[in-house]
Amino acid sequence: MCGIVGYVGRRAAPGLLIEGLKRLEYRGYDSAGIAMSNGHGLETRKAKGKISTLESLVNGNPIHGSVGIAHTRWATHGAPNECNAHPHTDCTNTIAVVHNGIIENFGALRTMLQKQGHTFKSETDTEVLAHLIEAALDGDDPLEDAVIDALNLVQGTYGIAVISSRDPDKIVCARKGSPLLIGLGEGEFYVASDVAAILQHTRQVVYLDDGEMGILTPQGYEVLDLNARRIKKGVSRIDWSLDEIEKGGFDHFMLKEIFEQPQTIQNTMRGRLVIEEGFSKLGGLNLSKEDLQSLDQIIITACGTSWHSGLIGELYIEENARIQTETEYASEFRYRNPIVSDKSLCVVISQSGETADTLAAMREAKRRGAKTLGLVNVVGSTIAREDDGGIYLHAGPEIGVASTKAFTSQVIALALFTLKLARLRNMSVVKGREIAEAMLALPDQIQSILDHAGDVEAIADRFKDATNFLYLGRGYNFPVALEGALKLKEISYIHAEGYPAAEMKHGPIALIDEEMPVVFVAPHDAVFEKVVSNIQEVKARGGKVICITSQRESVLEGMIDHEIRVPQTIDMLYPILTVIPLQLLAYYIAVKRGLNVDQPRNLAKSVTVE
Ligand code: F6R
Repeated sequence: MCGIVGYVGRRAAPGLLIEGLKRLEYRGYDSAGIAMSNGHGLETRKAKGKISTLESLVNGNPIHGSVGIAHTRWATHGAPNECNAHPHTDCTNTIAVVHNGIIENFGALRTMLQKQGHTFKSETDTEVLAHLIEAALDGDDPLEDAVIDALNLVQGTYGIAVISSRDPDKIVCARKGSPLLIGLGEGEFYVASDVAAILQHTRQVVYLDDGEMGILTPQGYEVLDLNARRIKKGVSRIDWSLDEIEKGGFDHFMLKEIFEQPQTIQNTMRGRLVIEEGFSKLGGLNLSKEDLQSLDQIIITACGTSWHSGLIGELYIEENARIQTETEYASEFRYRNPIVSDKSLCVVISQSGETADTLAAMREAKRRGAKTLGLVNVVGSTIAREDDGGIYLHAGPEIGVASTKAFTSQVIALALFTLKLARLRNMSVVKGREIAEAMLALPDQIQSILDHAGDVEAIADRFKDATNFLYLGRGYNFPVALEGALKLKEISYIHAEGYPAAEMKHGPIALIDEEMPVVFVAPHDAVFEKVVSNIQEVKARGGKVICITSQRESVLEGMIDHEIRVPQTIDMLYPILTVIPLQLLAYYIAVKRGLNVDQPRNLAKSVTVE
């Protein structure tokens, strides 16, 4: 998510590093910074916001040198502001560090360093690294020795690059769990977290593995392990174009993000599921056990795709925790006179954390006495700052305008919250464990759907010229039908409607003829038999049936034109699987219609106006 780039050589580094940061900007950003070592100490510039803000700062207040490191941040620890932006420095401004990853024992290390007299300037975990290296620097020992000593005290993950005014011609970098590579030039070397940052300068790279450290000077580079033993590394040649690399080899960000979902839902769950107890650990709720037990109403509010995940959350909470729950469009909620009390919890769902209507709805709920809980992806966004407590999605930056991976992470976060709530109220440990175990299986199950994306592409080819689509589902899969229709509308500009399958006969059935593709979201759950009757109704009127189901069903034979199978799971988790083919269907149809999938017309990624 964050990005690192560093340079040692003879050229002026600042422009080159800022260029590199711009190449990483697609990964998401909230702040950025640069530090140079130029023989006269270290100079640092940092700015909140886009790389262009940092660039203006550097243009206005130039920074010089041919050895430097730079970073673009997507906040995990501490708000996105100038102070928390990297590089971080030690007490004496001798060391500057950029870091991707998480230092898990940073609290203990920080306390230890403070006791030794170190003063901290930021709220980040990264800053402990600068102070640890400062503490380890001994006499004229080279920088790498101090970095090794520091890293031996650290638990967690890191990709780091370090410069020091005492060793002004050198960058030391190291990796554990967060990617890092060295770029090889003529009398110049680069370090980067992502090849996109340096590809315009070199295609020869050395990938660092976990536990390895690189030492770069204009004279050359070497790779050591953390016992300072030299390691011989192979050089790789990168053949991809810049564009391909930024998109990780995918044609569009949307497709990349669809394919990231096995990983992103895992990130949402990481460290939060307690399988044995069928429970979840959610550190940021700021709600006591008593608060959760005494709630008598939950209001979920959101817009668009996030509202669809809210509808699923409503079913989760009512079914499992037996608390009355309403999901409301944020834009409607804020302008009516809702019943809210101090026993109400308002759950606010937003990928960006900046949607104006959602933010206003949250403020309105607060004003009326409700506690607020934000399910937000972007750390430090306004909703995340103003809510009373929250669950971060940890899905990574979502660049494609059509939301995909945020949706599945939102549903996972809602399932985690439901587990906690329900287990504190009325859910048995056996039931809790069943849900938790089924959640753990989801990443592999999503992967198995993605492995057959070609089947969905073939269906897209067949229906790419349709002018209307109907999406039908029941129970947990009715919101999925809404989401499938929204995805198609927004990127392919085909008119699509999502409906509860049984409601179809109260009106929309009039639309059905041989030209109408109807997508049924019909996994084998408690309402499957009911949906079969609805499929029959469509088939009898000549509609073309595309059915997302979960197992071979003889009852469907002869009734459906195209079938897409998802693996079996428990009823409540089907939406996380059934939505995947619908995302793919919308994507492939839009591509086959020659449309700009990542930036559909009239849409913005984050709607910050009313
Ligand atoms: C649809 C989509 C939008 C957003 C909506 C809310 O693909 O992206 O419908 O879901 O604008 O945005 P967030 O979740 O950022 O509040």
